[in-house]
Order: sequence, then structure tokens, then C-alpha cells
Amino acid sequence: MSKPSTRHSPSFTIEPAEKLELTDECHHYQERHEVNWDIQKYFAQRYSIFSWYDEGIYMTDDAWFGVTPEPVANHVANDMYEIDSKKTTLVDMFAGAGGNTIAFALSGRWERIISIEKDAATLACAQHNAEVYGVEPGAITWVHGDSFEYLDSLKHRPEELHPGIRADTDATVVFASPPWGGPGYRTDEVFDLHNLQPYNLDQLHAACSPMEHALYLPRTSDIRQIAKLAPSGRKIEVVQYCMEGASKAMVAYIPEKGVTVADT
Ligand SMILES: C[S@@+](CC[C@H](N)C(=O)[O-])C[C@H]1O[C@@H](n2cnc3c(N)ncnc32)[C@H](O)[C@@H]1O
Repeated sequence: MSKPSTRHSPSFTIEPAEKLELTDECHHYQERHEVNWDIQKYFAQRYSIFSWYDEGIYMTDDAWFGVTPEPVANHVANDMYEIDSKKTTLVDMFAGAGGNTIAFALSGRWERIISIEKDAATLACAQHNAEVYGVEPGAITWVHGDSFEYLDSLKHRPEELHPGIRADTDATVVFASPPWGGPGYRTDEVFDLHNLQPYNLDQLHAACSPMEHALYLPRTSDIRQIAKLAPSGRKIEVVQYCMEGASKAMVAYIPEKGVTVADT
């Protein structure tokens, strides 16, 4: 008798994530006394971070430090709405608890949003929070993995990616809100972006290029370093995003390489 043939589905190095379960690291704190001292300042601002906090927003303790507050996330999403309509896919390199990704999805601007997070518990929070905010199921394709690996495959070896997360790079924009750290980032009047940790400006720019990209950076970032990244003949727009009169962050909007103004 001949051996029955077994059909293997092809395996890919990076695939869309399933819906992940919330874990013990994911919390919806209700009272100040439940919260670690280092998060209490952020807990006090919970409704400016997620206005629907009480509807059951979950975060890991680390996510509190990096989440983009909702008014800023909405403003960034509005500004990104204006990007050339030929760009139909948005890749969010650092999903975190979902602050930016949710605002991008609710803006209705993007045919596809691919949102990547390397920490499973944080990703579970982001998926859950998107549901809380009523984002349509399927509007966001989540990836549990390393966004640098994802972008490298997208640009050079797309066949390694599951078809559900392949994208035409000419029609793709990347948004990156990396973790902020490194010597001097809280104290320096002008922050040297070579010191941004764990990923510095050059690493972020190289990973996103040649695609158009928006980098969410500390408000004191050295804009001379950003200006040097402008493709020839193009300008970079830098926007400071403020809440209650104080800047929370700046976003550098960096045009794609190899496209002249006349082409756009
Ligand atoms: C500043 S937070 C992003 C916050 C997010 N914009 C929000 O509003 O919630 C950065 C996130 O990037 C994740 N991260 C760090 N390195 C990563 C990588 N190489 N690939 C994917 N995610 C990464 C961290 O786990 C963290 O959750």
C-alpha cells in the first residue's frame, strides 16, 4: 500500500498573531493603593492616557511609561491622515498597549494596519484595548515579534512572511514609537539621538527606509540630527505635540527615499 501523502502548509518565519490571553502581568488597576509607587504618577493621569480607562483598559506595568496619551495619539493619527493617499498600509513598529495603533484604526484612513509588539503580555493588552475601543475585528493585523526582523523580511525576503503580513513597500508608511532611554534623555537640554536606547536614530531610520516613516521621539531631540536624514531635495517636518501647554513628544515625518517632489 502506498504511503498517504501528507500536505504540509508552508511555514513562515513571521506570522500574524492569534488573539492572546491577558496574563498575570496585565492589570486594570482601579485604586491608587493597588499601583506601584513608580506608576502612581501615570495612574493619576489615566483618563488622559485612555479616556475609556474605566471601560476595562489593561496595561502591563512597563506599558504605563511608554503609552502615547490619547489626545496626542489622535493628533498624530490626524496628521498621518494627510499622507499621500497612495499609501494604504501603515506598519506600527512598537504597538505597546495600543495607544497609537487604536487611534490609527479609529481614524479609518488605512486599508491595512500591521502592528508589531515583541512582548506577549503587552500585545495581549493592546489587542484587548482595541476591542474596548470598538476597533473592528480584523482592522489591525497584530504581529508578536521583532519589528526590525519584520521590516528586514518585508524589504528583502517577503516570501518569508505569512501572506497576511506582506505589503507593497511603495504603498507602506512606518510609524515608530520606540522605547525611550539612554544617558541624558531626561536631563539634556538637547538630546543626542545617537544615545537613544535601546535603538538609536540611525538604527530606526535604517530599519524604516526607504519607506516614508514617522518617528515619535523625545521632545528635546536634536533636530539637526533629524534634518540630516532628509532625502535629497526633500524636507522633514517635525511637529511638537503638546498637552496642557507642555510638549509630550516630537514626531519627525521623514519622506521616502528615491521619490522626488515632482513624483508626489
Ligand atoms: C514606547 S512603547 C510603545 C507605546 C505605544 N505607541 C502605545 O501608545 O502604547 C515601546 C514598545 O515597543 C516594544 N518593543 C521594543 N523593542 C521591540 C522590537 N524590536 N519589536 C517589537 N516591539 C518592540 C516594547 O515591548 C514596548 O511595548
